[in-house]
Amino acid sequence: MYLSRFLSLHALWVTVSSVMQHYPSVWGHYDVCKTQIYTEEGKIWDYMACQPEARDMIKYVKVTLDPPDITCGDPPETFCAMGNPYMCNNECDATTNELAHPPELMFDLEGRHPSTFWQSTTWKDYPKPLQVNITLSWNKTIELTDNIVITFESGRPDQMILEKSLDYGRTWQPYQYYATDCLDGFHMDPKSVKDLSQHTVLEIICTEEYSTGYMTNSKIIHFEIKDRFAFFAGPRLHNMASLYGQLDTTKKLRDFFTITDLRIRLLRPATGEIYVDEQHLARYFYAISDIRVYGRCKCNLHATGCKEENKKLFCECEHNTTGPDCGKCKKNYQGRPWSPGSYLPIPKGTANICIPSISSIGNCECFGHSNRCSYIELLNTVICVSCKHNTRGQHCELCRLGYFRNASAELDDENVCIDCNCNPFGSVHDRCNDTGFCECKEGTSGTKCDKCLLGYIWHSLGCQPNVCDKELLQCQNGGTCLKNMRCQCPPAYTGILCEKLKCERDPGGCSQNSGNVAVLHGPLLPLTALLGVTGLLVF
Ligand SMILES: *[C@@H]1O[C@H](CO)[C@@H](O)[C@H](O)[C@H]1NC(C)=O
Ligand SMILES: *[C@@H]1O[C@H](CO)[C@@H](O)[C@H](O)[C@H]1NC(C)=O
Ligand SMILES: *[C@@H]1O[C@H](CO)[C@@H](O)[C@H](O)[C@H]1NC(C)=O
Ligand SMILES: *[C@@H]1O[C@H](CO)[C@@H](O)[C@H](O)[C@H]1NC(C)=O
Ligand SMILES: *[C@@H]1O[C@H](CO)[C@@H](O)[C@H](O)[C@H]1NC(C)=O
Repeated sequence: MYLSRFLSLHALWVTVSSVMQHYPSVWGHYDVCKTQIYTEEGKIWDYMACQPEARDMIKYVKVTLDPPDITCGDPPETFCAMGNPYMCNNECDATTNELAHPPELMFDLEGRHPSTFWQSTTWKDYPKPLQVNITLSWNKTIELTDNIVITFESGRPDQMILEKSLDYGRTWQPYQYYATDCLDGFHMDPKSVKDLSQHTVLEIICTEEYSTGYMTNSKIIHFEIKDRFAFFAGPRLHNMASLYGQLDTTKKLRDFFTITDLRIRLLRPATGEIYVDEQHLARYFYAISDIRVYGRCKCNLHATGCKEENKKLFCECEHNTTGPDCGKCKKNYQGRPWSPGSYLPIPKGTANICIPSISSIGNCECFGHSNRCSYIELLNTVICVSCKHNTRGQHCELCRLGYFRNASAELDDENVCIDCNCNPFGSVHDRCNDTGFCECKEGTSGTKCDKCLLGYIWHSLGCQPNVCDKELLQCQNGGTCLKNMRCQCPPAYTGILCEKLKCERDPGGCSQNSGNVAVLHGPLLPLTALLGVTGLLVF
């Protein structure tokens, strides 16, 4: 089974694991993709990059022919035998099983005699070109692992283009041109894959190798995947690690071998001669007995399995990834941006598993308040770095101290956090609760703690209790209450509410003081106050 797994990583890993036996712990990251295999040393773990085995992809293909009525036999017609242009009584009849050549026969099991094949109508409309597009669609991204091989039952076409699509048939690129005369057919210099190198491996060439005529025994056309691999892995593909190293780092190279669709554009049938024999147009047609496409499901190195459901392929994604190609992280596992796994094991490569995001906040990363995340290995978690817009928290999902949540703004709104704006003199600190209420000092009120309760008065340093007022704390003995902060007392009185006689406290100095006061301040004092003092002295 392993021998048949061409280009499986098996060979590579056996080599690598013997080299790297002294790093057993690092393999832990590849746990999901290890399998037990038997070697001379007994049963061992075989560590491999997470990818499904290569297999025959033709089983899963959907074929479309253009024009749709190009298959022979409707109405029935006769054609000339291969290699014998003068035996022209062969029959194609779509209504008779033995004489029909429908497209399915390109994909059935061969190895029987006579082989079964699809066949086009003959070139009876010459000189109008006889052209056919054969489109093979997988509706799944596939990585080719072996040559594409097309076996013609007729001669190989004079002109043909193999095209590929990477986007389910929306756009197409040529893969290779095939012609008996590249310059004449496509204005290209003929080349063969052997003329390429590591540096030119992605070049699209026109080859004359597979178009040599009508009469030869060669029936096969290749698109040479292995020869291209060999530029990196050596002629017998011994050094696959080198190829995988390149594939890990060069997306263009990876994409070159990746397809979702193939299109065989048959442009001119085999004629074998310079001139078309107009007397025997039934000699010219296309017939294909077999198409072989070997590859594996592209799962971005996040799956070892690829299952078939209703003739369609799906990666069985691991590493908490999802999508037909495991091309994204599962919901709630978007703790860091998705990336493909790598072919090479740790320490050179990594599985790049998807890691959980904080489930209560869903899969949003930093709500747009930071564009930088940092992975904390120890906690197996990521945090947003330098949250902006007055946010904080692992996902910038909280407001900084001194700010509160704007109830009418979404979490990703720039205005999500509002300044508490607590009055610095009226508040205990600069923080507020979720509705913006600050914590007030005694005697202080208001959302922002900038107002005073009854019985308190705002000073430069906040609310202070009233010293005097018109109700409970009236100034006595004719004193006046100044701005609730103090009583202005008549000269003979003192005390906070002017409740004390000055002489009472200091009888010795009473007359002297009062006299001085009277003399010094006499003109300024109200007459009643002056009289009162004098009267007091009299008694
Ligand atoms: C084949 O496909 C090409 C586009 O890739 C198109 O231009 C051409 O007309 C098609 N030929 C036929 C016979 O449908
Ligand atoms: C291709 O596959 C997707 C699922 O991945 C499916 O929804 C879609 O219908 C398929 N398209 C065709 C043409 O089969
Ligand atoms: C995927 O997530 C689950 C649940 O958190 C976890 O148990 C599992 O180990 C994860 N798988 C990988 C390969 O990290
Ligand atoms: C709260 O958010 C809404 C929506 O963005 C915005 O219009 C409003 O100005 C914000 N309120 C404050 C006080 O910033
Ligand atoms: C914030 O404080 C105010 C005043 O104490 C209170 O009425 C309100 O319910 C508090 N809001 C929250 C969300 O705790």
